[in-house]
Amino acid sequence: MNILVIYDSYFGNTERIALAIKDSISEKNHVTIKKISDFIDKDLAGIELIVIGSPTRAFRPTEAISKFLKKIDVKKYKWIAFDTGVNPDLINAKFLKFMVKIFGYAVSNMAKIIKKSGGRMLLEPETFFVIGNEGPLVKGEIDRFHKWLKKVNL
Ligand SMILES: Cc1cc2nc3c(=O)[nH]c(=O)nc-3n(C[C@H](O)[C@H](O)[C@H](O)COP(=O)(O)O)c2cc1C
Repeated sequence: MNILVIYDSYFGNTERIALAIKDSISEKNHVTIKKISDFIDKDLAGIELIVIGSPTRAFRPTEAISKFLKKIDVKKYKWIAFDTGVNPDLINAKFLKFMVKIFGYAVSNMAKIIKKSGGRMLLEPETFFVIGNEGPLVKGEIDRFHKWLKKVNL
């Protein structure tokens, strides 16, 4: 399958998952990986599946990822979506913990747009947790990521 892995990342955590996805699926597929700032329309030529990843910023995807989802014809593709964010169980500040639980993560927003626009999700959207605001990824998250990705046969 022709797959585009597209992601945004400030501190490298979302990028780490995106690169792990590329490594996991490259054997049987033709995979292009692009940071959103490097994306050009031509990258979508022949693409069947888009894997999209964003850090959670103020409960939402980054502006560049949101713009990308608005700009392209979402229903033409199959989708896998993930994000990174903080685990509410690891947050000390009560108010922030409450906000994270209520407002959720970037991936819920991405999945909502994708489904509403007629895109087909191949996997349940998933969040991978970082330590503090900037990471690194919480221990065990790369293993959890591999288990998650195995649910779809790529
Ligand atoms: C300005 C800012 C806002 C953030 N907002 C949230 C948030 O709403 N929810 C959350 O879980 N994490 C939030 N975080 C933590 C980010 O999700 C974390 O930096 C990100 O997962 C790291 O991914 P990256 O290394 O790919 O940039 C925020 C971090 C920053 C710096």
